[in-house]
Amino acid sequence: MKNIDLSFAAEQSHYKILIGEDLLKQEIFTDILKSDTVFIVSNETVAPLYLDTLKQALSDYRVHTYLLPDGEKFKTLDSWQLLLHRMISVPLRRNDTVIALGGGVIGDIAGFAAATLNRGMAIIQVPTTLLSQVDSSVGGKTAVNHPLGKNLIGAFHQPSLVVSDISTLSSLPKREFLCGISEIVKASIIADNDFFEWLGENSQSILSLENNVLADMIERACRIKANIVAMDEKEQGVRSWLNLGHTFGHAIETCAGYGGLLHGEAVSIGMCLAAKFSHEQQYLSLSDKQRILTLIEQFGLSTRIPAHLKAADLVNAMRLDKKNTSEMLTLVLPEKVGQVMIDRAVHTIEVEQFLIKEMS
Ligand SMILES: NC(=O)c1ccc[n+]([C@@H]2O[C@H](COP(=O)([O-])OP(=O)(O)OC[C@H]3O[C@@H](n4cnc5c(N)ncnc54)[C@H](O)[C@@H]3O)[C@@H](O)[C@H]2O)c1
Repeated sequence: MKNIDLSFAAEQSHYKILIGEDLLKQEIFTDILKSDTVFIVSNETVAPLYLDTLKQALSDYRVHTYLLPDGEKFKTLDSWQLLLHRMISVPLRRNDTVIALGGGVIGDIAGFAAATLNRGMAIIQVPTTLLSQVDSSVGGKTAVNHPLGKNLIGAFHQPSLVVSDISTLSSLPKREFLCGISEIVKASIIADNDFFEWLGENSQSILSLENNVLADMIERACRIKANIVAMDEKEQGVRSWLNLGHTFGHAIETCAGYGGLLHGEAVSIGMCLAAKFSHEQQYLSLSDKQRILTLIEQFGLSTRIPAHLKAADLVNAMRLDKKNTSEMLTLVLPEKVGQVMIDRAVHTIEVEQFLIKEMS
């Protein structure tokens, strides 16, 4: 089992990320639980696969469960309210613990419920998608969506423990697995050229789910995210590096419409665009641009903007991003593999011309 210690000096908070096989079968929760009651939040897809195993490991505790329907469209204030209602009816006390068992949707909504009930309760994240193991469970961002935008209502609330059981990845659909890979490639481009190389050398073992390679990969990706978050817990500066590929990606996701593309698919296209645009702006060398495109293709990730989308619509969607104005966009761009920069003064017209060329 791998063990990452994560500390936030400013907040004086501290938690562990455990990564390994069959962790749900082990007694790893006892040290951290402060009462005899836990409340597990999961969904209708994940619960039939892993809830019994988790309950078994918690057989000495009073366990309450709440299952949400599956899907991003249920990450809403309504779901949060129903969940809180159930938690209050138990009733949960402040020293009881919430456990989120599922992907990023469950982690985000259960995290937000734990952040708000009783002015903050302990939460253990048990992420079961690759994306949530390397990204959403680390860093303490919790949220629900609003009709006017994703993740608009939320709080920073760090977990007391993260348990990433890599055995759960065996049941994950390949498309969802690749979304996690997209975020891992992103982390390597942001901060770690050696890890980027390692990903290329180990792509076949990763795609065939070799457990020891997966554990190394998840650990390295978590360390990158954890280091960035520890430098900037409340996203005042370097944490926005993690938005590499996301400004283009969000626009593609929005224009493709609900159900068109998964988030990680849009991000991998966004990273390709960021690399190409960065090379055009002479920030990124031709060879590093090529390395980025090659690694993304090697994993079979999406690289091209869907043909039915229009450059003007994409630019309009980018303008609506809260970091942007109508004339100027903020983009995170790679300067070399392992290093990114933030350009806060990218002219929208330049981006539109770039996208028109890209899509012709
Ligand atoms: N808090 C953060 O910092 C942060 C960061 C990135 C993303 N997010 C959020 O995370 C969400 C996306 O997370 P996600 O990609 O994990 O999506 P998800 O939670 O929707 O999970 C994807 C699908 O896989 C299923 N699933 C989960 N684990 C499984 C398993 N082991 N076997 C089989 N099926 C399984 C889920 O039920 C779902 O159908 C978005 O809401 C996004 O906003 C949050």
